[in-house]
Amino acid sequence: MTAEISLWQPIPSQLIIKRSDVHLWALSLTPSSAVVERFRALLNQEEQLRAAKLATQDIAERFIIARASLRLILGRYLQLKPNQILLHYNDQGKPALDSCHQSPLCFNLAHSHNQALLALGCYDELGVDIEYLDPALDYQGILDRYFSALDREGLKRLSPLRRRRGFYRLWTSREAQLKRNGQGLPGLPAFGHADLAPQRYIPLPDGYLGCLAVSSGIKQIQRFRVTESESLFLPGHDHHLRR
Ligand SMILES: CC(C)(COP(=O)(O)OP(=O)(O)OC[C@H]1O[C@@H](n2cnc3c(N)ncnc32)[C@H](O)[C@@H]1OP(=O)(O)O)[C@@H](O)C(=O)NCCC(=O)NCCS
Repeated sequence: MTAEISLWQPIPSQLIIKRSDVHLWALSLTPSSAVVERFRALLNQEEQLRAAKLATQDIAERFIIARASLRLILGRYLQLKPNQILLHYNDQGKPALDSCHQSPLCFNLAHSHNQALLALGCYDELGVDIEYLDPALDYQGILDRYFSALDREGLKRLSPLRRRRGFYRLWTSREAQLKRNGQGLPGLPAFGHADLAPQRYIPLPDGYLGCLAVSSGIKQIQRFRVTESESLFLPGHDHHLRR
């Protein structure tokens, strides 16, 4: 994919997305507990129940921040309050805007540890993944279990120093691809190299790597960085978010 990629920018006051653009939002998921409550209130009942069932408080809080940020951001594009956003899910759980919005906006979200990456585009499905590059991960088991002999051979050719990053490139690429077509990991065994959509690695701060899979017609990728999730509520930006 030869799309131009912007530097990370702060949240713009007006959000307009062109058909040939993708907007990428990097979100920090490390809020104070007061902020978590503010975000929790933006979730619908089903999402709040899901958060309550998650294994640990940390995981639940990250889910709440990511999902509420998704609602806040979609709300800005659609000029709606976060709780007016209706989502529907395909049979593998991929969320999308409900058809009642009559909007061409497509999105995909990924999270890893304290970061999330949200990709938005128009008309064409997209998939995104983000992974924390864990220096201690023993990745050989994952490689043997999930990747083809061709993929493994490719990695072996890299120097040991480059192999870990190579593994994460492979992993984020495959996951972004599978998320683009909405299958998720169950699609992995049948995944062939011929199925690859154009993709772009996204360098991220603080030891994370992202990958975006999207159509070849994309000309520009605009990147926005939200270091404090509270800033999604800034006065002047959130007039249409009040209930
Ligand atoms: C999608 C999937 C690859 C996510 O893997 P992960 O590394 O845990 O998570 P990521 O951070 O990359 O992505 C999670 C986000 O992807 C989105 N997502 C969920 N299912 C998806 C799918 N099938 N395709 C694309 N995106 C999906 C959601 O926005 C989700 O965020 P949420 O958990 O806050 O709702 C994995 O959960 C999967 O394979 N799911 C589909 C199969 C399945 O479990 N189906 C049964 C549920 S109905």
